[in-house]
Amino acid sequence: MTDYLLALDQGTTSSRAILFTRQGSVVSSAQIPFSQYYPQPGWVEHDPLELLDSQLRAAAQCVAQSGVRPGQIAGVGLANQRETALMWERETGKPVGRAIVWQCRRTAAFCTQLREQGYTEAIRARTGLLPDAYFSGTKYRWLLEHTPGARRRAERGELLCGTVDSWLLWNLTGGKVHASDYSNCCRTMLFDIHRRCWDETLCQLLDVPMGWLPQPVENSGDLGTIASGVPHLQDLAGLPIRGAAGDQQAALFGQGCFQAGQLKNTYGTGCFTLMNTGETPVLSQNGLLTCIGWGLEGKTTYILEGSVFNAGSSIQWLRDELGIIRQASDCDRLAEQVPDNGGVYLVSAFTGLGAPHWDMYARGTVVGLTRGTTRAHLCRAALEGIAYQTADLIAAMERDAGRPIQSLRVDGGASVSDFMMQYQADLLGVPVERPAVVETTAWGAACLAGLGAGLWHSPQEIAREGAPGRAYAPKTDRSREYARWQKALERAKAWEE
Ligand code: G3P
Repeated sequence: MTDYLLALDQGTTSSRAILFTRQGSVVSSAQIPFSQYYPQPGWVEHDPLELLDSQLRAAAQCVAQSGVRPGQIAGVGLANQRETALMWERETGKPVGRAIVWQCRRTAAFCTQLREQGYTEAIRARTGLLPDAYFSGTKYRWLLEHTPGARRRAERGELLCGTVDSWLLWNLTGGKVHASDYSNCCRTMLFDIHRRCWDETLCQLLDVPMGWLPQPVENSGDLGTIASGVPHLQDLAGLPIRGAAGDQQAALFGQGCFQAGQLKNTYGTGCFTLMNTGETPVLSQNGLLTCIGWGLEGKTTYILEGSVFNAGSSIQWLRDELGIIRQASDCDRLAEQVPDNGGVYLVSAFTGLGAPHWDMYARGTVVGLTRGTTRAHLCRAALEGIAYQTADLIAAMERDAGRPIQSLRVDGGASVSDFMMQYQADLLGVPVERPAVVETTAWGAACLAGLGAGLWHSPQEIAREGAPGRAYAPKTDRSREYARWQKALERAKAWEE
């Protein structure tokens, strides 16, 4: 029986592959980290070949160790870190330079210029986004401007560009498909979310040749097949690729948020809160983004989104840069050892602040240190900081939606923190629900592939079996701490000029 689905999840710090049964049980998984490059303060890069190689090896390892024959896999689904932009040669498939990662701030000055020149509203009306260095469009422009000969070569059609979904699709299909799904396209600041096509005026404004961009496609359907000769994937040649989505939209799908009003928060490197708003785009009055969740059979589902740029990465910072914990789980253990935060607040604005603040020049800040501050307080402040930033986002979302949320579904690596989930529920005053298997991003990609492969005919048919997860009911009033947080946040803003 072809009852298995293979999800490839190309994230910011590692590439993963998970093989699922159609009921959503994990049969096998593999994860391979890759290097992060920080050539200048505020800059973040990836090596496209490392991204690809780690992803292909993870896929091969996952299937090889599963005992499942490739012929039993109904389809492959992709999920990816979004906005990260790169370019490669059409002829050889060789990348040209490194990928500019979503967190990279190198185009901040140009985005400020766009805002000052009064383009914010035009960009928002078409794309649902605000001019910010986060999105791919200005990264493409930077690549064209700063790589010798690139503009000329791009105009001649010798170079192709794309986000990570395009890069994977191109390589998996042996250079047959140069496409990008709607959920990734809509994060470029070049895509008209109403007409679902690249916007000529915005391409001109950013000086990005339209012919250079990948072809926009729906999130489920025939996205090509794995070519023979793809390194590490000889055994998987011929497998159909049937779904693709940016990782956050994939997670919303994997959480089963198919109804308007349902929302989830993923606690990964960053935190991403997404609310399904149905078939009509809702333009935010509170600094949130309007994006495409997914396009299926001609129907578009829109979302409101807010992101915290640095969430899990603040725990990595405690581990890798400060060295005050040895592994991420130490953070939780230490946080629980102190009765409160000792007055310490950590604003993890290492690469600026996203929604609803949109401050590219904010920087990480720790306030309230005393001689009595211990590493346990810092750990607690880091976890609380993630929960406060999520609460800020959800408050904005409630204002846009005009009604309070009833509960919050959570997932992502850092959602395993019991301390943080309880704190989140306390702050929001509603239950926080975590599924038993928090691999919702990969599961969402698998579901899109399953729909494309005909395992199901509509999202509503997808039912996930397995043990229910855990719910955290609010217990403690945190309004005093939340008010202090707002003061700490103000100190982090507009720091870097
Ligand atoms: O928008 C960036 C996001 O897609 C990255 O997700 O899971 O790699 O932190 P993640």
